[in-house]
Amino acid sequence: MKMENEIFRKIFWWSSSSSGSDSDSGSASGSGTNRKCCRPMEKIVPTTTGVLVIFLLFFVAGICLSSGWIDSSIFSGISYQKPLRCTTGNQIQTCSRDYPAANINRPSNLICPSYFKWIHEDLKTWKETGITKEMVEKAKKTANFRLVILNGKVYVEKYRPSFQTRDKFTLWGILQLLRLYPGKLPDLELMFNCDDTPRGRGPKEGPPALFRYCADQGSKEIVFPDWSFWGWVETNIKPWSQLLEEIVEGNKRTKWKDRVPFAYWRGNPDVGRKDLMACRGSNEKEWNTHLYVQDWGKETRTGFKQSNLAEQCTHRYKIYIEGWAWSVSEKYILACDSMTLFLMPRYYDFFTRGMVPLQHYWPIIRDNNQCASLKFAVEWGNNHTDLAQKIANTSSNFIREELKMDYVYDYMFHVLNEYSKLLRFKPTVPPGAVELCSETMACPATGVMRKFMEDSMVKSPSGSSPCNIPPPYDPSTLEEFIKKKSNLTRQVQMWQHESQNINKTQ
Ligand SMILES: *[C@@H]1O[C@H](CO)[C@@H](O)[C@H](O)[C@H]1NC(C)=O
Ligand SMILES: *[C@@H]1O[C@H](CO)[C@@H](O)[C@H](O)[C@H]1NC(C)=O
Ligand SMILES: *[C@@H]1O[C@H](CO)[C@@H](O)[C@H](O)[C@H]1NC(C)=O
Repeated sequence: MKMENEIFRKIFWWSSSSSGSDSDSGSASGSGTNRKCCRPMEKIVPTTTGVLVIFLLFFVAGICLSSGWIDSSIFSGISYQKPLRCTTGNQIQTCSRDYPAANINRPSNLICPSYFKWIHEDLKTWKETGITKEMVEKAKKTANFRLVILNGKVYVEKYRPSFQTRDKFTLWGILQLLRLYPGKLPDLELMFNCDDTPRGRGPKEGPPALFRYCADQGSKEIVFPDWSFWGWVETNIKPWSQLLEEIVEGNKRTKWKDRVPFAYWRGNPDVGRKDLMACRGSNEKEWNTHLYVQDWGKETRTGFKQSNLAEQCTHRYKIYIEGWAWSVSEKYILACDSMTLFLMPRYYDFFTRGMVPLQHYWPIIRDNNQCASLKFAVEWGNNHTDLAQKIANTSSNFIREELKMDYVYDYMFHVLNEYSKLLRFKPTVPPGAVELCSETMACPATGVMRKFMEDSMVKSPSGSSPCNIPPPYDPSTLEEFIKKKSNLTRQVQMWQHESQNINKTQ
């Protein structure tokens, strides 16, 4: 126990000093911020003169508009409250062109969370050679679409339909990024693949440049936030900013100590997770687990009553296990204020690499001893409730602070910005591409899709620039960081072996 405390002191000393600089201190104006969405706007202090001037402006504008002197679109820059401007009748839907590029230039004094450092690692492949047109074209055979940003406009050339609405909501997210930082994104051209599993290593003669949601050690792909941050229509999972708030609220309802002292998992075992079901055992005590199969067919019919993620934070321990590749469930599980039992994944998404075993989660090696490892983890946590709570707290703080929507957008901004710096050609709009904007996507949409798009729409430009991207790891620091992570995982295995040996000798 003494040794454990020593290890934790080291872990959390390190964490508190590193996350301090990452925390959000840029906007002193906590009040008056739009909590539902994005970054706080510049604080507007209403003064009598200000109010008068605004009143006069509207008055004059009203006269001009009603008499048809000027086109109403000039004023749409200040009418962001009206989220979507859809045409009516059989008029063709147009894109609004009213992003005021000015007044977003206040530099940010925030340093981005440390996981942003991995942007440099992902792009390292092309650091010397740059990215040529050929490298982009080579990625075409597996891409779902090509995205071109030119003078702040978005063009898309579609190649293959994606699974469900992944491609739509990914594109929607990119459009919202442009609404948040109008005029700030550089011209670029990229290929995007919406599948689960990476293809593996690219050919030797310069790997193709491809964006996707996850990668593994062998693949040279550029990871990008997945569609679920703007909503997953088919499973009724709401946009992240809204759902995160609900989970945080829900967490307050049951204190950690009052939660069910077992490990919880609910999901679909048929996507490469059948091994986990063996840990159900004949009763809950056998492996200390509560495992449930999610029947999506039934959930769809009954209106997703069983699958409300904000109500799934009922246990002290929650299991994360990847499917065919990374799983979008990761952020919902880590946000729960439960200690996450993290079956060490092969694939990573954009934020996973910033997390550390025993600090953000309890590492579990995925092997044929994993049921015993789960059982041990739960027993350990119930014996060391303070430390288990600390891990729970650290992971949910990480998700709440460092994975809030502001930073998801900032990550997208920086990965696109750094990528564009490597391009060795001038992006052009291919003949088969169409222009895309929020109106052309959302206005024809109906039902849940329309709702999620409206709910996740960026209502106004950011008040400041994106956070500042941290410099790359120097190679020795990176090596130490990786070693430290594997050391801590080994440490947990050692505790388990020791405990089993003691039990044997008794
Ligand atoms: C938990 O505590 C019990 C009782 O002190 C002990 O028998 C058991 O080995 C402990 N287990 C772990 C994993 O710490
Ligand atoms: C959890 O973290 C919050 C925010 O950092 C802190 O205020 C709280 O005291 C922590 N709780 C525990 C049990 O560590
Ligand atoms: C990892 O463990 C080894 C041996 O147990 C130790 O020598 C090394 O300093 C540790 N490295 C880190 C980064 O903690």
